[in-house]
Amino acid sequence: MKKTALITGASGGIGLEITRLFAKDGINLLLLARNEDKLLNIKQEIEQQYPVIVNYLPTDLSNPDSIKTIENYVEQNDLQIEYLVNNAGFGDFGRFTKRDLQKCREMIALNITTLMELSYIYARKMEERGSGRILNVSSIAALQPVPLMAVYGATKVFVLSFSEAIRNELKKTGVTITTLLPGPTATNFFNKAEANNVPMFQYMMTPQKVALSAYKAMMKGKKRVIPGFLNKSLAFVVKVLPGDFVLNMAVRLMGK
Ligand SMILES: NC(=O)c1ccc[n+]([C@@H]2O[C@H](COP(=O)([O-])OP(=O)(O)OC[C@H]3O[C@@H](n4cnc5c(N)ncnc54)[C@H](OP(=O)(O)O)[C@@H]3O)[C@@H](O)[C@H]2O)c1
Repeated sequence: MKKTALITGASGGIGLEITRLFAKDGINLLLLARNEDKLLNIKQEIEQQYPVIVNYLPTDLSNPDSIKTIENYVEQNDLQIEYLVNNAGFGDFGRFTKRDLQKCREMIALNITTLMELSYIYARKMEERGSGRILNVSSIAALQPVPLMAVYGATKVFVLSFSEAIRNELKKTGVTITTLLPGPTATNFFNKAEANNVPMFQYMMTPQKVALSAYKAMMKGKKRVIPGFLNKSLAFVVKVLPGDFVLNMAVRLMGK
């Protein structure tokens, strides 16, 4: 069996940078995202640069059928998922009552359901083997309610709570779960979320820096990683200040 890292949302942003770090360490890859052309280009670029095998599977991970497709692909190609990176996700900016309900459903399917199901399938196999590492991508948005990104923030609360709970359950099994909480990061996320002029999102980290912090933390089996001094400071402030004060601060940072 070929030890492989399965990465969702590998066609761009943070997921692509994490992909490059695995390749640099000589770890074979299974890349998932919708855009087939991008995945093919990434496969060619990486295989030219590093001695690794890059598998890819174009699939819409907000569709529940994608889970079976992934399981079948992994089985048919005799892959052993030693690393799982649940990174694919998107946000949506604006008043909850003015947003599109179908988009909210898809966000929950992708950010929560698919992440939970892939964790279920591969954490079970990792536990049987006694080894494996999972990186689940939450956000600093999980640390307080986020007016104007209400559904998105709530999906990331799920990721954080769920990941830290199963991490505890899997203690001493050889399987680790690390949760990544990035702050604003310069990727395509803001175009998709229609959130380009929000005050909170004017100071951004590069996806390369975020990916490196995340990758190192996952490889060490750490519980939680918040990349960047500013984001760490914000997380601290949110923890020590009263909830209503934090909520008002969030409203100001998100703009009107
Ligand atoms: N950027 C930030 O400021 C920030 C901050 C905190 C947390 N995060 C989290 O970080 C993660 C990565 O986001 P990013 O910033 O790198 O955004 P991004 O540049 O928009 O990348 C998102 C990735 O997810 C894939 N994806 C989106 N919808 C998909 C679907 N339905 N099925 C399969 N793949 C899908 C995209 O590929 P295709 O379009 O090809 O499908 C792409 O590869 C997300 O979970 C996000 O919530 C981002």
